[in-house]
Amino acid sequence: MQQQVTLTIDGSTIRAARGTSVLEAALGYGICIPHLCHVPGLKDTGACRLCIVENVQNGRSRVTTSCTLTVQEGMVIRTNTENIKRLRRNIAELIVAEAPNSRAVQDMAVRCGVREVRYPFRRENCIQCGRCVRYCTEMWRANALGFIGRGKDRKVDFAFGNRRDICKKCQSCVIYCPMSVTPCGGPMKPGEEKLCGKCESVELMAENAYGACVHCELGKGFQCSRHAM
Ligand code: FES
Repeated sequence: MQQQVTLTIDGSTIRAARGTSVLEAALGYGICIPHLCHVPGLKDTGACRLCIVENVQNGRSRVTTSCTLTVQEGMVIRTNTENIKRLRRNIAELIVAEAPNSRAVQDMAVRCGVREVRYPFRRENCIQCGRCVRYCTEMWRANALGFIGRGKDRKVDFAFGNRRDICKKCQSCVIYCPMSVTPCGGPMKPGEEKLCGKCESVELMAENAYGACVHCELGKGFQCSRHAM
């Protein structure tokens, strides 16, 4: 039997198998930590940083991504402090500014309490969460996709820019991409660069319906509304 550890998340004592991430342990108990790049069953890389929490040790807290933090005996985690909410809002704002035409991204931002975006919109088609690359590599072992370039030139592409035979044409890269799952219907014409707000109304309607908060699979990761505001 897998060894269990006991830890505290937001004042609740929970048990989780050794080796589990704090994010998965929390989600397993219905404690929702907003997350974007995490895909169950794939290796976590901490790319989006939305899942940040405070790890409290000896009275001092350290902010870290919960998907890359494994549970430890006696651990004390806070997911929802003012500091975390403020940092998370800022991260969400930056992601929206990067990719405002993704409904999944807009929805995530609203759930993190973002009501306006203070950064210039870049209209990228990729937020470099790496979901597609990891799915292609780890699930299909195809290695058809990868990150290419560095710094601001870094992007996801096929090796040498060519779709190669090793691509199994499974479409998983499209299915798991927050940009393509639910393209935002629309506010992003020049001069309309803002949160569209539609997700907010969906959130209000679905507040009490577990797992039904947005119109996409990806959005189920943001099902807990207590993190908004
Ligand atoms: S889900 Fe943890 S960093 Fe993206």
